[in-house]
Amino acid sequence: MPAKVVVGVQWGDEGKGKIIDILASRADMVVRSQGGNNAGHTVENNGEVYKLRLIPSGILYNNTDCMIGCGVVLNPPSILEEMEELKARGISLEKLKIDPRVHIVMPWHVALDGASEKFRGNAEIGTTRRGIGPCYMDKAERCGLRMFDLINPEIFRQKATTVGELKNRFIKEIYNEQPLDIPAIIEEYIEYGQKLAPYVDDVSVKVYNAYKNGKEILFEGAQGTLLDLDVGTYPFVTSSNPISGGICTGTGVGPNIVDEIIGVAKAYTTRVGKGPFPTELFDETGRLIQKRGNEFGTNTGRARRVGWFDSVILRHAVRTNGLTGLAVNKLDTLSGIETLKICVAYKNKKGEIVKNFPCSLDELKDLTPVYEELPGFTENISKCKSYDELPKSCKYYINKVENLCECSVKMVGVGPSRNQNLER
Ligand code: GDP
Ligand code: IMO
Ligand code: MG
Repeated sequence: MPAKVVVGVQWGDEGKGKIIDILASRADMVVRSQGGNNAGHTVENNGEVYKLRLIPSGILYNNTDCMIGCGVVLNPPSILEEMEELKARGISLEKLKIDPRVHIVMPWHVALDGASEKFRGNAEIGTTRRGIGPCYMDKAERCGLRMFDLINPEIFRQKATTVGELKNRFIKEIYNEQPLDIPAIIEEYIEYGQKLAPYVDDVSVKVYNAYKNGKEILFEGAQGTLLDLDVGTYPFVTSSNPISGGICTGTGVGPNIVDEIIGVAKAYTTRVGKGPFPTELFDETGRLIQKRGNEFGTNTGRARRVGWFDSVILRHAVRTNGLTGLAVNKLDTLSGIETLKICVAYKNKKGEIVKNFPCSLDELKDLTPVYEELPGFTENISKCKSYDELPKSCKYYINKVENLCECSVKMVGVGPSRNQNLER
């Protein structure tokens, strides 16, 4: 059975949650392998809206196993709150499993995220301040606390005391902020550990066994390609690998189990936080798209910056993820704009055409987008039930996207609901 990967191909919030929820109706297992509660994935069904941060978007189906793999960083009170919210809405959590190798986001990570952003001043990254970067720092430094530690109180007390006291020195002596009450935090987190213990299981083994037994597996990406620590717009990125390669290290499986990699894009571009954005719009059209598309963060409520579709970014994503297809969401949001623009390439100061996304932001700042103009559409397409029903100019837009990105568009989103997705 095929294993599919669903990844974001811009700067996150492309509508991955919706696509996973749709595909999960035919899947046996959904797996998250990176990121943490910096993610916010929205699923809409029959007017019911679910906002998921850590729990895979397959959770709404009773028969779908939901796995949190070793590459995720997990904030215990955040996942417990999410679990309570789902339970209160009648969603079963029996099929949720968390790998014991998952790293725990501790209050000192959150404190250090805020303190380092403050220290950066104008050069801040614009993080979600959820402690994601500092937690991955500790993982790489080899002083992180893992799920296995959290559910074993004696081990946790000992390790967390050592690392917590050290972190307090950073908070107090380097950043001049209020120190934390480490013993109280440790006891609070041990309680969380006891609540989460029934869900802990070896996700690498579970996914591999599912694969061997011919089950259909879906890997749910968080964030997006341009937020990737290695191939994204460094340093304005997150601290994990949202590209498809991240699923192997973040789950503990080999790349050979995957045979379909779907990139999710918006029909335009958005970005939350700081950092470069070549096709960003600062005019009335940008404000219109932001308002119509309700471009405000699922998680933090921050306004998303808005711009035209950028095929340079998409070609970068096709290559770095090995995409086999694209899902293009929010085409409906572009209705009513007389002329649409797509960035086909960049131009440097000498007037030379640049077709590949540059490695450094110092190069990127000297590039300007080259646009192709396309006719817009005025129809309300949100009720279209098949791709054929779309107006001619919509199909022209999608064909253009497909040709410029060198990747076929398999799904087109015309609204936030499960049934507003047109398969081609
Ligand atoms: P994710 O982080 O990639 O899962 O995306 P988010 O959930 O953060 O943001 C995407 C937003 O767009 C959510 O509010 C979705 O409900 C909404 N959405 C997804 N697809 C479509 C679409 O085709 N049309 C419209 N209008 N909204 C959509
Ligand atoms: P989903 O999964 C959009 C952005 C933050 C910031 C940068 C670093 O919903 O697409 P971090 O807190 O990760 O250290 O912040 O990454 N960011 C996201 N932007 N969608 C997300 O997730 C994001 N997760 C992180 O805004 O610019
Ligand atoms: Mg989101």
